[in-house]
Amino acid sequence: MKIGILNGGGDCAGLNAVTRAVVRRSEQFGFVVIGIRHGWAGLLDLDTVPLSWSAVSDIIKEGGTILHTTRTNPFTREHGPETVLKNIEKLKLDALVAVGGEDTLSVGAKLSQMGLKCVGVPKTIDNDIYGTDLTFGFDSAVNVTVDAIDRIQTTGESHDRIMIVEVMGRHAGWIAAYAGLASGANLILVPEEPLERDEVANFLKKRHESGKPASIVVVGEGCVLRDYPTDSTKIDEFGHPRLGGIGELLAKEIEKRVGIETRAVVLGHIVRGGAPSAYDRVLATRLGVAAVDALKDGEYNVMVCLRNNQLTRTPIIDILGHTKKLDPETLSLIKHFRI
Ligand code: F6P
Repeated sequence: MKIGILNGGGDCAGLNAVTRAVVRRSEQFGFVVIGIRHGWAGLLDLDTVPLSWSAVSDIIKEGGTILHTTRTNPFTREHGPETVLKNIEKLKLDALVAVGGEDTLSVGAKLSQMGLKCVGVPKTIDNDIYGTDLTFGFDSAVNVTVDAIDRIQTTGESHDRIMIVEVMGRHAGWIAAYAGLASGANLILVPEEPLERDEVANFLKKRHESGKPASIVVVGEGCVLRDYPTDSTKIDEFGHPRLGGIGELLAKEIEKRVGIETRAVVLGHIVRGGAPSAYDRVLATRLGVAAVDALKDGEYNVMVCLRNNQLTRTPIIDILGHTKKLDPETLSLIKHFRI
């Protein structure tokens, strides 16, 4: 069997561990693997790289992706899907492993209905993919975020300031919630809960009046203030607006209402960078092996996923159109365990 592998969407730590596992498992079965560069664009432009045993040596610990990635959507390009299928034939690929978030996997699902044999591997730092308990990339992102918040806390305390830390996570608050809890943040704001300026200001004012001048507030980038529109001028090929900016806005509002020096720090792409955590290296390896096993079993158009720490398979079509939001227990914890 000749397999293609591509990475689509935002990069994250652990992508190379998946590629390495796919190549190594494939060699055990005598399969050949071709790397498709720059996501789905690589199948539009025939941009590929052979992946041998040596090509993936030692990349398990490398951040980012040796295949590179984009947010290319063939269904927005003229004759895009047909070109992808034609080039798959040209490359003599029997099947494809698509490593990505819902957008990347949705392209795989649609192409499967046109004859592509595809297995999806869920990937995102956001941990918001429906149908799997956890995505690789999330643990690494939380660890980087916690390290950053710990550092921000020492400077905020030195100046008796309120520090607002804005973190990625798109429309789910997993990174904000887990990194906020792990770093002992005083207030955690997530897209799942509407953001009320006065509630935030009153909480911080009370903290200040009880003799705690410095506070850390962690806010997910997808949080919105009721009358503050997101910047919808920058939309990607899947229709997602570019998020960011709530931290700065909130800092101004809080400083005005509470009267304490307030600064905003936007962690942004830092949380996506760097080496994968040990947990993510193992999870990514498990998923890469499971993807090749699914192909060997002749099971296509499925996403390998983690459920109760067991790997299983679910039809890709079943995960589309959903976002895995914070569970009630975590929501309750960050709402009521405010210190
Ligand atoms: O989906 C992962 C993610 O990092 C989101 O948390 C973030 O909003 C988005 O990607 C940023 O995308 P880009 O790197 O294309 O600006």
